[in-house]
Amino acid sequence: MSPAGRRTLVTGGAGFLGSHLCEALLQRGADVLCVDNFHTGTRANIAALLPHPRFELLEHDVSVPLDVDVDRIFNLACPASPVHYQHDPVQTTKTCVQGAIHMLALAKARGARILQASTSEVYGDPEVHPQPESYWGRVNPIGMRSCYNEGKRCAETLFFDYRRQHDLEIKVVRIFNTYGPRMYPDDGRVVSNFIVQALRGEDITLYGDGSQTRSFCYVDDLIEALLASMDTPAAFTGPVNVGNPAELSMRELAELVLRLSGSRSRIVHQPLPADDPKLRRPDIGLAQRELGWNPKVPLEKGLLATIAYFRALLNFG
Ligand SMILES: NC(=O)c1ccc[n+]([C@@H]2O[C@H](COP(=O)([O-])OP(=O)(O)OC[C@H]3O[C@@H](n4cnc5c(N)ncnc54)[C@H](O)[C@@H]3O)[C@@H](O)[C@H]2O)c1
Repeated sequence: MSPAGRRTLVTGGAGFLGSHLCEALLQRGADVLCVDNFHTGTRANIAALLPHPRFELLEHDVSVPLDVDVDRIFNLACPASPVHYQHDPVQTTKTCVQGAIHMLALAKARGARILQASTSEVYGDPEVHPQPESYWGRVNPIGMRSCYNEGKRCAETLFFDYRRQHDLEIKVVRIFNTYGPRMYPDDGRVVSNFIVQALRGEDITLYGDGSQTRSFCYVDDLIEALLASMDTPAAFTGPVNVGNPAELSMRELAELVLRLSGSRSRIVHQPLPADDPKLRRPDIGLAQRELGWNPKVPLEKGLLATIAYFRALLNFG
């Protein structure tokens, strides 16, 4: 937990995860500077925080240098869903790589501790399952997902080189699929897709035969893990996997969403997208040991909260 009075920078603070993180930091007594260029994030996500005396918003693109007085940096700025990061792939790589360079330079200048929101995508389409941090991954360097996957891999490299060259206090957290309120309705992620289709009474699109698996972490659990990572001793750098290891097939998820939302939508099949991983589950042994962290929110409970959010957002109240 950050002591009161610290000034913490959250890049991407108006996004899905960033807005929850800003909220949690304020609750813990920190001064929060939210930096965002509103590429995918929205003012609505942080509307409730704007009047808070310890909350400040700065509209800024992290691919441009930034000089502000902070002692902790959570670097989350980056579009996270394929629909968004493939929209302008060159900008995605710039955000990942130049964004990391500028935030690391800021951390160096201010003597700040810095955390990188990395991703399970650094493992690509893995041939090791579940994925431990020691696995180097199987990533296509020239595909449609590469702007994000390779951008995030390069950002990790930069974090560790700043550590080796400049002795920075770094934390690299590899986030696995996370869901919850403030996801976007049309970003193509499976949880939001299924819920929105179910609420609208549209067909639920299942890619392939639906046997591919994923594991989903509820946003509140994820934020706890980010805060715990930031507060680990200086010697702990990660990378550390954070996610919920409970694995289910996409067919099972579709059926669960239908049941919890009371929808009568049909399930229809479409071809699997290129480079879509068949299996994805974190090995969270390191997070359990080093962060003393475990995901707590059961999938049904998290899905009900997310369905309620989308019901209100889409006016299906
Ligand atoms: N949600 C997940 O399941 C997940 C999984 C793995 C990793 N992550 C990582 O967590 C971070 C946050 O993801 P999210 O799901 O909240 O996505 P999001 O798209 O909701 O949030 C990203 C935020 O970054 C902002 N942003 C994008 N480019 C920027 C730039 N150049 N300068 C300043 N701001 C910029 C966006 O406007 C948005 O507010 C990302 O770095 C993502 O890679 C998320």
